[in-house]
Amino acid sequence: DAVAELLGRRPDAVLGLATGSSPIPVYDELARRHARGELSFTGVRAFCLDEYVGLPQDHPEAYRSVIRRVFADRVGLLDVRAPDGAAEDLVAACAEYEAAIEAAGGIDLQLLGIGSDGHVGFNEPGSSLGSRTRLKTLTAKTRADNARFFDSVDAVPRHVLTQGVATILDARHVILVATGEAKAAPVAAAIEGPLTAMVPASALQLHRHASVVVDEAAAGGLRLAAYYRETYAGKPSWQHL
Ligand code: F6R
Repeated sequence: DAVAELLGRRPDAVLGLATGSSPIPVYDELARRHARGELSFTGVRAFCLDEYVGLPQDHPEAYRSVIRRVFADRVGLLDVRAPDGAAEDLVAACAEYEAAIEAAGGIDLQLLGIGSDGHVGFNEPGSSLGSRTRLKTLTAKTRADNARFFDSVDAVPRHVLTQGVATILDARHVILVATGEAKAAPVAAAIEGPLTAMVPASALQLHRHASVVVDEAAAGGLRLAAYYRETYAGKPSWQHL
């Protein structure tokens, strides 16, 4: 609904797209609405959150390919960019990516998942809260989590290019989606724990417009769950997500 509302007001909106399992139901719903003729992505521009280093751009697990397959190609979204993880000069590729986001006018709506270790994008624990798009090394935990998309854990690249924490915070609205029990601890730490680089998602506490969408299992660790439910139930009708 938030994407539909945005496109209604701004047909040339800039979307920030996450890969992984969490946003898939969102992409499926948007594809359904597009098929029914309710949504057009013709003028939309999109930026991926992150990309593996060292995979050819047409590799099926390169995030640019994944986003095309799971979302963009289904809705006629042509303008999809990702950091160039196959570039010879990765530092320059990161700077170019930041410049491209800026030239597009910044990201209107950034979709996010959260890692079991509290990462957003591929900003692993310890990431500077002021970071911009740059090279990161994945933790063993993240590589193990992502092994399901590859033949084995050894095939998961060690390095990635990711929007930095500060890049993500620049988006005008961020929506983090988390489902399942494995996300209960990182969700609680991000929302109710201290602001710390050890849980990069906790940086969203600084954002002026951050929405967190969770199922019951992912909400399992939240101390103020009853209060959030009451707040949501009593939301004024003029107040969108
Ligand atoms: C993906 C990304 C990651 C994932 C996170 C959760 O582009 O940046 O932060 O959102 O690893 O992954 P899933 O949703 O597969 O549990």
